[in-house]
Amino acid sequence: MKITFLGHASLLIEVANKSIIVDPFISANEKAKQIDINSLKADYILLTHAHEDHILDAEFIAKKTGAIIVSNFEIVSHYGKLGIKGHPMNHGGTWNFDFGRLTMVNAIHSSSFPDGSYGGNPAGFVLETKEGNIYIAGDTALTLDMKLISIQCRLNLAILPIGDNFTMGVDFAIIAADFVEADKVLGYHFDTFGYIEIDHDFAIQKFKTKNKELIILEIGSSITI
Ligand code: NI
Ligand code: MN
Repeated sequence: MKITFLGHASLLIEVANKSIIVDPFISANEKAKQIDINSLKADYILLTHAHEDHILDAEFIAKKTGAIIVSNFEIVSHYGKLGIKGHPMNHGGTWNFDFGRLTMVNAIHSSSFPDGSYGGNPAGFVLETKEGNIYIAGDTALTLDMKLISIQCRLNLAILPIGDNFTMGVDFAIIAADFVEADKVLGYHFDTFGYIEIDHDFAIQKFKTKNKELIILEIGSSITI
């Protein structure tokens, strides 16, 4: 499984010969100018919630690639009205896709569309595949529900927000890593705007003191698990 950081909370996950884009917010991200949304391949687009910094480029990419949007019922219905194919889910539900087994899990946050309309409840995803298991937390606070994930499966990687203010910051992300029993964390949702700027070295060092690895990727670079 190859995971490429597209900036902010946007990811490209390549697994089982499928391309999965998560929460595309690229065209308006000053820091992600080097990512060309016209050249992104996608079979699926996972959306954790309806905030603009997670859905901005979903319509464009879905229409260009024919990708299927996987999200909560309300978000999938919204895109359905625009003629985009979707797979609706809700919290606690699991579905076996051709790329792996996906569970929608709890996130503590909010989820309105940019125009204020209802975007369902915010979520995270647990993805179990033959190439490894990952947790994509979405925008969330630290929550005890994360302990359920370590009961569900053994994770190879947890992808956690670390920018603070709108989500968990570094200290709570370290506790979250404990709750989900992941030693390796990919940080996201940081630096994009003023409220969420962080000191990378300080964050990496803090994880290290708890015997955990925090990975911070340059935008456009990848890790393989
Ligand atoms: Ni949000
Ligand atoms: Mn966000």
